[in-house]
Parts: sequence; structure tokens; C-alpha cells
Amino acid sequence: MIIMTTLKEYLDSTGCEEPLKDLIELIAKQADPIRKAFITNQSYVDTENIYGETQIALDKWSDAHLLKVLERSNLVKAAASEEQPDIVKFPNAKTDYTVTLDPLDGSSLVQVNLAVGTIIGIYDNGKIMQEGENLRAAMYLLYGPMTILTLTVKEGVHIFALNDEKEYVLMEKNVRIPEGKLYASGALKKDWTAKHREVIDHLEKEGYKLRYSGSFVADVHQYLKYGGVFSYPAFKGHKNGKLRLLFEANPLGFIVTEAGGRISDGRRDILTIMPEKIDHRVPIYIGSKGIIRRIEEMFKD
Ligand code: AHG
Ligand code: MN
Ligand code: MN
Repeated sequence: MIIMTTLKEYLDSTGCEEPLKDLIELIAKQADPIRKAFITNQSYVDTENIYGETQIALDKWSDAHLLKVLERSNLVKAAASEEQPDIVKFPNAKTDYTVTLDPLDGSSLVQVNLAVGTIIGIYDNGKIMQEGENLRAAMYLLYGPMTILTLTVKEGVHIFALNDEKEYVLMEKNVRIPEGKLYASGALKKDWTAKHREVIDHLEKEGYKLRYSGSFVADVHQYLKYGGVFSYPAFKGHKNGKLRLLFEANPLGFIVTEAGGRISDGRRDILTIMPEKIDHRVPIYIGSKGIIRRIEEMFKD
């Protein structure tokens, strides 16, 4: 008989304190209601809403849902969400945990039924505005053919799958990112900087293969498994690129780094950047360590 390790059993085997375990489990549980909202919060032809409810875009719905759950838990002191202009404070909290969330990443893909996800960062020192290297835990839920949870509590990176009994079971232990040969770049080619063009030319000459979906979390998941470099660079009129430091770069960078990879803005480790504002953006190169070090060398030239 194969014994399955559940998320709860895994958390009990770590050095995590009880409220942190509760918080991780609580967030993981929200995959089910968020997935259910995919059908109720879509736009359908010839109907305002198939259930006669007011439709809210799925990213806004997921944001409201997650913030409500976090507030009611009393486990979180403050949260920052990609969908909110300011930090949201929960005065009744009994802990010092703060949470960053991208409630739904890859939202343009909802209408075409491609993989999207929820990205979460957890700090334990009561602050939100700080370097990503201070994260206590990071995780993402990926809504693909399976619902999966990728988690780190600074004891390796582990992937869990949600089964029919609504239980997360360990699917892959101690994921290590290989030095693979996939690449991707966001932004229009005509708007790339000369340096970024040089990087992409190098990758293409070296035989890297293009894989880009439009969902950062789904792309990073693929790069975590197969290796290579995903980029969303600085581009014309956007010297900091598109993706957000707090909600996207830091939690996923923390996971990839814990798996032996690296996240860089071309010059430095993104996890060492002090955010200047809640919607701080940053150019991103994330993936296998060797190629990202090579890209950092190219930026120095
Ligand atoms: P979000 O759906 O949270 O707004 O994020 C979308 C992001 C990211 O997921 C993806 O890599 C990128 O935007 C795609 O942008 P383009 O469609 O402009 O390539
Ligand atoms: Mn996003
Ligand atoms: Mn989003």
C-alpha cells in the first residue's frame, strides 16, 4: 500500500509554529471556492449571468474572497493585494503574520481556460514593506488540469495535488530546478532594450526553446520543473517592466531560490530589493541559477 503524505502531515513534520500551519492550510483550502467561481464568474454570451448573480471579474472576486477569509481567521495582521491600492489592516489579529497576495495571476487567460493561479507570500514580523528574503513562507495554487500547491517554509520546495477528497497530498518532494533550456520573454520585441535583445539572441543561439503562456505563475511552475529562464524585462517607457515586486516577483523568486534557482533584475538578486511602494515593479529574470548568473555577466559588459 502506498502511504500518502497529506499537507497537514507534511506541516506537522516541519519546524512551523501552529498558527503558521493553520494559515497555510486555510489559504490552501481556498483553491476549491476559487475554482468554483470560475464557472459562476465567467462572461457568457446572451446572458448577464447564468445564475442571475452579479458577475465580478474573477480576479476581483478572488481578492474579496481571500481578504475576507484572512480577516475572519484572526491569523493575519495585515495584507497587501495586487488588487488593492493600500495595505489592508486586520486589527483583531492575534499574530504578527502579514500576507501578500496576487489573488489571480494570469487573469487574461481565464476566458480561454488556460492555467492561472494564486500567489502568496507570508512574513512573520508584522511588516509588509521589506525585502523578499525575509519571507517566512511562500506558496502558489495553480489551477490547471489538476489543482496543485507549491510550498516552501524554508525547508525545501514541495508540490501537493488536491485529490477528489479535497485533501492535498504530496506529489513531489524537494523539487530542485534543473539547468534546463527553456526561455520566455514578455513585452513587445520592438520595445525591448538593446541589452535584453542581446540576452535573447544569446539564448536562441544556445538552443533555448520558447515557452510563454501569459500566466507568470504557470510559466514559473514550468520553469521550476524543466529549467531555463523566464523573463519580463524592462521595455520602452517601462524601465521597471510590468511584474510586481511584492505580489509576483518575491514569492515566486523565494520558491525558485529555495529550489536552487535564482531571480534577478539583471544586476542583483531581486529578493534583496527594498520596495519603495506597494505597486513597485521590477524587471525579472527567473529560473536556473547558471543561466541567470550568465545573464548578470552580460548586463555588466
Ligand atoms: P495579473 O493577471 O495578475 O494581472 O498578471 C498578469 C501578468 C503575468 O501573469 C503575465 O506573465 C503577464 O502579466 C502577461 O502579460 P502580457 O499579456 O502583457 O504578456
Ligand atoms: Mn499577476
Ligand atoms: Mn492578479
